[in-house]
Amino acid sequence: MRSKIVAGNWKMNKTLKESKELANELKSVVENVTLDNTRVIVAPTFVNLTRVSEAVEGSAIEVAAQNMHQADSGAYTGEISGEMLKGIGLNSVILGHSERRAYFGEDDALLASKVDAALKNNLEIIFCFGEELEDRKSDNHFNVVGSQLKNGIFHLPSDAWKNVVLAYEPVWAIGTGETASPEQAQEMHAFIRNLIEETYNESVADNVSILYGGSVKPGNAEEIFSKPDVDGGLIGGAALKAEDFGAIIKAI
Ligand code: PGA
Repeated sequence: MRSKIVAGNWKMNKTLKESKELANELKSVVENVTLDNTRVIVAPTFVNLTRVSEAVEGSAIEVAAQNMHQADSGAYTGEISGEMLKGIGLNSVILGHSERRAYFGEDDALLASKVDAALKNNLEIIFCFGEELEDRKSDNHFNVVGSQLKNGIFHLPSDAWKNVVLAYEPVWAIGTGETASPEQAQEMHAFIRNLIEETYNESVADNVSILYGGSVKPGNAEEIFSKPDVDGGLIGGAALKAEDFGAIIKAI
């Protein structure tokens, strides 16, 4: 059975002190809820990964990185490898976030190589994708999402999918306060699951968790999560406050 997941992407926010405070607050939130087949993940910035991991130790909270480089090591100033993430005890990495695609030129081919590097290092991949507003307006959103999946991650063999989580994040809903309606999210998630079944098989499709991301808040989380193909959320802004993130965890 696929897990439900609430993941918080802290992006480039929070100093070390603030990160530890938030981690400690979340630890007490999580200690007081029953996590029935539900995983809670936080993704702080690289420099705070180790200290946040220490802060949440002993709790159910998992820590993920927001990105990684595709090479094992070498002359890539400023970059971080999968081996380094694994070396500090991490098990998951977010890849393909729309901000990486838009501001850092990460295209499908590059992401496919990052996917391979993550798997090689036994890291679970939280693979993000989603259409722009123009794509939706021109009714091209299914094509765009289909091609992001096909070119970024469908090269994996079916047995690798146990280490994959998908996050559908329509770009027009990220940080804008505008959310896809629960029906729009369900429609896209069902399309994605169907595409996985066609490409692989029913078992791969049934077992992969597909998260929705884009302005999920305490006030809309429950309705979005109630849809059958929405297995949780990747949360940005609302993950920065323990109270809000806690309410979203409770909503699932
Ligand atoms: P948001 O971000 O919740 O602030 O819209 C979501 C994301 O970027 O993962």
